[in-house]
Amino acid sequence: MLADNDSVQLKRNDLDSYIRQFANRFLTLESIGVLLINSDFRIVEASDMICAVFGCERSDVIDQPVEAWMSFVDMQQRPFDRSLIEGASFRNRELNWTRDKISIKLMLDGETLQEDGLITGAFVLFRDVSHLLNLEEQIRRSDRLKTIGQIAAGTAHEIRNPLTAIKGFMQLLNRTLADREMVKEREFVGIVLTELERVNDLVSDFLLLSKPKEAKRASMRVGKVLQEILPMIRNEALLHSVTVIYRPKPELPPILADKELLKQVFLNLGKNAIEAMGEGGTLIIRENHYPYESDKIAIEIQDTGPGIPPDFLDKVFDPFFTTKPQGTGLGLSVCQRIVHDLGGSIEVLSSEEGTKFIVWIPYDGGERGD
Ligand SMILES: Nc1ncnc2c1ncn2[C@@H]1O[C@H](COP(=O)(O)OP(=O)(O)OP(=O)(O)O)[C@@H](O)[C@H]1O
Ligand SMILES: [Mg+2]
Repeated sequence: MLADNDSVQLKRNDLDSYIRQFANRFLTLESIGVLLINSDFRIVEASDMICAVFGCERSDVIDQPVEAWMSFVDMQQRPFDRSLIEGASFRNRELNWTRDKISIKLMLDGETLQEDGLITGAFVLFRDVSHLLNLEEQIRRSDRLKTIGQIAAGTAHEIRNPLTAIKGFMQLLNRTLADREMVKEREFVGIVLTELERVNDLVSDFLLLSKPKEAKRASMRVGKVLQEILPMIRNEALLHSVTVIYRPKPELPPILADKELLKQVFLNLGKNAIEAMGEGGTLIIRENHYPYESDKIAIEIQDTGPGIPPDFLDKVFDPFFTTKPQGTGLGLSVCQRIVHDLGGSIEVLSSEEGTKFIVWIPYDGGERGD
């Protein structure tokens, strides 16, 4: 049997060993960084994460004054100073850091180390919270979208009613003008009617965004839908001197969808692609299937335009996001709504060589379409 003293000693040795192991492991963690500082405000230890994030070698920073290290890594915003070793510990201090064009958000906690009531040094923990903040931003954005949707629905209804009345009277006027052979005036009324049609379309988009209309779903082949809109796309392409290539895949199984809504999706995507390209561009519309998404078909709309800048990629589906002087920024959000309602999704891949939108739609489990 061990004497009591021996057993206490053994436990302390055990504890020391565990704490050493913990400290060593802690210093290699990728997600949390630690800077150990002595009472002269010099760096005693810098963990792997600190070196990786701030782009410095451990051997270069050990024994350096903290201020020298901050200058060395070119830290513009200094998150803490000597007051830390005078007892001014802190929590959740934010630091935005950009390295190799990637910006990350760090949250810092600073604490002092003390022995017999005297401050012997301090440590600062660095946590990478970019992911959490991104998540928060996404939640905020989806809340905002919900509110926009509700406002859009209310406003759209109110606009629609007077619009119907205006349209009705304009059509009447048109007929009267025709009877009196007032050609010039009829032309004006014609323009008013066309413009009214545009407003009407816009209002329909609003309504679709906020609460989708009752979809009339049927089993169909996506090729058939594409063939019906191809003449329209070819026409638009001709105006912009864009070549259209269509690659069908007739063996694809049918999908369950509302044909008119689906047409709207491909028209919007095709229109965006053509608008993005200069003269001489090529638009490829491809029916596809990938083994890794075995229960879905993929319709790809690919252009040779300038691409979407990375900063915009996650915004293009937001309602009202547009880079075009005449754009409403509703096209893609409407597309996304329609495709989501079908249980599908839209993926976007973009580089300086062009952009590819992939519309994923699940197969129809039922009988084959026409
Ligand atoms: N194929 C593409 N290539 C480059 N940018 C694109 C492409 N498709 C969409 N975008 C970008 O996404 C934005 C939003 O597109 P969206 O279709 O929602 O609205 P819009 O085209 O601007 O306006 P609207 O569709 O109402 O005429 C566009 O303004 C453009 O900046
Ligand atoms: Mg558009």
